[in-house]
Amino acid sequence: MARSMIAILDLGSTENAAIAREIRALGMYSEIFAHDIEPEALKNLPGVCGVIVNGGENNVVDGEKIDVNPGIYSIGLPVLTACHQGAHANDYDVWPENREKALDAFIEKTASPRDWTIENFIEEEVALLRKQIGNKKVLLALSGGVDSSVVAAMLIKAVGDQLTCVHVNHGLLRKGEPEQVVNVFGKELGANLVYVDAVDRFLDKLAGVADPEQKRKIIGAEFIRVFEEEARKLEGIAFLGQGTIYPDIIESGTKTAKMVKSHHNVGGLPEDLQFELVEPLKMLFKDEVRACGEALGLPHDMVYRQPFPGPGLGVRCLGAITRDRLEAVRESDAILREEFAKNGLQGKVWQYFTAIPDLKSVGVRNHARADEWAVIIRAVNTVDAMTATVEELDWNLIHTLTKRITNEVKGVNRVLIDVTPKPTGTIEWE
Ligand code: XMP
Repeated sequence: MARSMIAILDLGSTENAAIAREIRALGMYSEIFAHDIEPEALKNLPGVCGVIVNGGENNVVDGEKIDVNPGIYSIGLPVLTACHQGAHANDYDVWPENREKALDAFIEKTASPRDWTIENFIEEEVALLRKQIGNKKVLLALSGGVDSSVVAAMLIKAVGDQLTCVHVNHGLLRKGEPEQVVNVFGKELGANLVYVDAVDRFLDKLAGVADPEQKRKIIGAEFIRVFEEEARKLEGIAFLGQGTIYPDIIESGTKTAKMVKSHHNVGGLPEDLQFELVEPLKMLFKDEVRACGEALGLPHDMVYRQPFPGPGLGVRCLGAITRDRLEAVRESDAILREEFAKNGLQGKVWQYFTAIPDLKSVGVRNHARADEWAVIIRAVNTVDAMTATVEELDWNLIHTLTKRITNEVKGVNRVLIDVTPKPTGTIEWE
C-alpha cells in the first residue's frame, strides 16, 4: 500500500515548502503539486488522503489570477484551505496562528496512518531503484558533499557492484576530504571507486586567472571534462546518479513542482554520453537527506558538514590561485574547523572558513623583517544564505586561532576578522 500523503496545491505561496516539511515532521508524507491539477488526477495520486490549498482567494502569478479547479472540493478528500491575509471571504479559513497545531489536527482529520519515516523511505526507494536499474550499470560523480555521498550510499545499498563512483580531486577540497571519500566509500562501504588525481590539471588551467567568475567557469568546465574522460573508460553505463533534492525541484518550478525534473541533468556532458538519470533524493528536504545518510551508516561529520561551495577553496584563494596560498587557505581552514569543534561551535555556527587575499604585509619572523600573507576569518549565521549575520567570536578563541595560524601555516603573518554582515558583504569573498 502506498504511504499516506497530503497534497499541497501550489498557488505560488513561498510557504509551501515549509508546510510540506512541517507535515513530514509530523510523520506524514507531503508533496507539492500544480494548482491546476485535474480533480481526477488528484484523486488518483498514490496514498493521497488530504489536500491543502494554501493562499488567498486573489492569487496572482505573473499578473494572472489563478485558482484551483473547483472540482477538487468534491472528490471526497478533506481539504484545508488557508491564507495569510487574515479576514477573508467565506470559503477560506484564516490560517491559524499555530500552524503546526492546525496541520496536526488536519492530519488527524484524514484518519490515515502517519507512516513517513526515513527507514520506510529507504526501503521503498531501494526497491524502486532496483526496479529502475535492473542489472544495468550506474555512474556517479562523488564529490564527498552531503548530497552526492547520500546518493552513493543509497545506490550501494540498492545495486552494490553495479555502481561506479568517480571522485575527482581538483585540488580545491578541504584538508582530509579526498582521504575521507576513499576511506568511507572505497574501503568501509566497498564501493567501486575511481579516484582521479586531477590537481595539476586544474591548477594549470587556473594559473594566472584572477576573475572569480572566470575561475568558477574553468573549474566547472574542467570538472565535466575529467568526468567525461573517466566515463568513456567505463563500459556499459546506462544511468547517471544525481544528487537532486526536493528544494532544487521546488525552486526551479513556479506554478508546478512536477514539470521541472528535466532541468536537473548534468549540463555539459556530450550528446553521446547522455545517460538516464537516477535521482533517489529528489523528494527529500536537506534535513531528511542527512537523516537518510546517517541511517545508511555514513559518518555524522560527513552528512552534517557545513555548506561548501562547488568551486571549493578556489574561491577562497582570492585572485589568481597560487599553490602556496592554496595550501595556506587549506591549512588555516583545518585549524579553524578544529578549534571551532573544540569550542562547541561545530553545528552551531552555520558557515565558517578562512580566505586569503592576494596581499602581503610586512611582519617580523625570527627577528627579521618578513613579507607574508594575511588570513581572513569569516564565521556567519543565516537561514537561507540570502542574508547573514556575523558570529561574535570569543576573544580567547580569536587569540588561539591567531597564534596557531601564524605559527603553523607557512607564509602567514597576520590574521584578520571579517565582521561584515550580508549585505553589504556576501558570505564568500569572491
Ligand atoms: P554568497 O557568497 O553568495 O554565498 O553570499 C551564499 C552561499 O552559497 C555558497 N556559494 C557557492 N556554492 N557554488 C556553490 O555551490 C558557488 O559558486 C558558490 N558561491 C558561493 C556560499 O558558500 C554560501 O554558503
